[in-house]
Amino acid sequence: MWKASAPSNIALIKYMGKESAVGNVAVNPSLSMTLSAFLTNVEIEPISGGEDRWEPLPSSAPLRAESTKRFVNFFTRIKQEREIAGSFLIRSGNNFPSDAGLASSASSFAALTMAAFQAFASVSGKPSPSLSEQAMVSRTGSGSSCRSFFSPWCAWEAREIGPVPSRLPDLTDLVAVIDSGFKKISSSEAHKRVQASALFEGRPERASTRQREIKTAMASGDLKRTAEIAWAELWDMHSLFHTASPPFFYFSPLSLAVLRWAERSWEETGTGPITTVDAGPNVHLLVPTAEKDRWRRELLAAVPGISLLESRA
Ligand code: PMV
Repeated sequence: MWKASAPSNIALIKYMGKESAVGNVAVNPSLSMTLSAFLTNVEIEPISGGEDRWEPLPSSAPLRAESTKRFVNFFTRIKQEREIAGSFLIRSGNNFPSDAGLASSASSFAALTMAAFQAFASVSGKPSPSLSEQAMVSRTGSGSSCRSFFSPWCAWEAREIGPVPSRLPDLTDLVAVIDSGFKKISSSEAHKRVQASALFEGRPERASTRQREIKTAMASGDLKRTAEIAWAELWDMHSLFHTASPPFFYFSPLSLAVLRWAERSWEETGTGPITTVDAGPNVHLLVPTAEKDRWRRELLAAVPGISLLESRA
């Protein structure tokens, strides 16, 4: 049996819009922090005959039929491309709540790719490809999963995926988990719809500029500048959603209350969290780990009624 686990990640520069859906070719570079507390575990073992199959790990929730199909098809494709014979049972599960609205496709596809390459190496006797090459393969299953291969910071720039040097302090992501009740638009659907937004023109250039700027800010340990760039990027991506065709949005009143709290904190005290929101209502607040308990208390006092999960990089 082969086992692997991989973390989720949260992007500060967002992958949004595909040049090609085949292989998930992004229109722009992206950059994220890994979330080591939100892990997917995968186990693979050979089975006799039939097709590759999936099962949840004990005490894990079953996947939706559509997600199971996407997961197994990805495995079967990369197995066939490497001419690996035989059939396999894949088991997987997350160590974080599946109903918390935290994207699990990044950690799932990264862990599956890592376990698959262990299996292929042992069946074929050939060595596993490098981590960057594995990340490139994982990208073809779920774009954002390629950034789960390098920790704590990872950049995905065209065909390059690798670690990002940072002198920022050790950060913890406080995730304000908000139950929206709004109809969820999948990220695959979002990637398609944003291309029809009038704001999509110039988007790859804006994201590329921010990618360069945020790397500079991170390299010099400039938390304030990093937060300003992440803030601009959050509104850029969500503005694409609001002006897409058809338009859609993820924010709930509680998301906005948390965002206003973060904004006020910067305005009134000159310090605050690095704030971002993915394709969902939850707000991610990256704060220095050494100060996380204070931030947690202040947020819960300002916005009662939210629940918080947390993960270090
Ligand atoms: O990997 P996908 O296709 O689920 O896309 C993820 C896109 C965002 O989460 C919205 C942004 C990102 O870069 O992670």
